[in-house]
Amino acid sequence: MYRTTFEKVPTFKSALRRLGRGQREVHEVHALTDVSFEVGHGTSVGIIGANGAGKSTLMRAIAGILPPSEGRIEVHGRVSTLLALGVGFKRKLSGRENVVLGGLAAGMTREELDERYDEIAAFAELGEFIDMPMMTYSSGMYSRLAFSVAVHLNPDILLIDEALSTGDAKFKQKAARKMREVADNAGTMFLVSHSMRSIKRLCSECIWLHKGQLKMQGDPEEVIAAYTKFLEVGEDVFSLEDM
Ligand SMILES: Nc1ncnc2c1ncn2[C@@H]1O[C@H](COP(=O)(O)OP(=O)(O)OP(=O)(O)O)[C@@H](O)[C@H]1O
Ligand SMILES: [Mg+2]
Repeated sequence: MYRTTFEKVPTFKSALRRLGRGQREVHEVHALTDVSFEVGHGTSVGIIGANGAGKSTLMRAIAGILPPSEGRIEVHGRVSTLLALGVGFKRKLSGRENVVLGGLAAGMTREELDERYDEIAAFAELGEFIDMPMMTYSSGMYSRLAFSVAVHLNPDILLIDEALSTGDAKFKQKAARKMREVADNAGTMFLVSHSMRSIKRLCSECIWLHKGQLKMQGDPEEVIAAYTKFLEVGEDVFSLEDM
């Protein structure tokens, strides 16, 4: 549940009242309700659902960024996140500095970082931009580096939330190969995507969220068929976005 304070109709009167009580209206958004599931080690889970269904909220909760207001989440293993909202990067720092900071924050040692830095930088293919402040990056460049850091941290659990939508075709292909590798290495992966094709290719299980509730869980083919039927669109609609 998200709590936000807001002023419904900001009138002079309500402003006065607020001054008196020092209070604003609290609005509660129940982004997820009664969602319960178990995912085994080594499973690649696709998360699908309409805009606002609660997918990113679920990822943030699993990552521990947003603890649940009710209920419990048990995670066994090291989580590495790649969330669309790009948590962690400091835009004033260079890509290089952010890789180091991100790695240290994720529990890597200096030695491990020294060892893996070149690999991370090479995968992102940013050229000389790796030493420029990240605020000079395009959104695609930003997500390249985010992806590269996340997959090179050797996580037990990799969370990917649509971060690749801004990557170009070539990088998407490379990223897909890397995700396959993670999936094949018996790592656990959660992939949020609106591309049904990616989910089918990379996931062995699928969860469909609908208005904050778990609508269906199971085989990707079956869940996607039910979801697209529900949306009343053909499955090939999604092939326009190849990732
Ligand atoms: N920080 C926030 N404060 C208040 N409400 C929020 C916040 N973030 C998300 N919400 C609400 O929670 C619900 C779920 O949002 P969420 O971002 O998890 O959806 P999503 O499935 O990731 O959607 P999309 O496909 O558009 O990325 C929505 O109703 C949204 O308005
Ligand atoms: Mg989202």
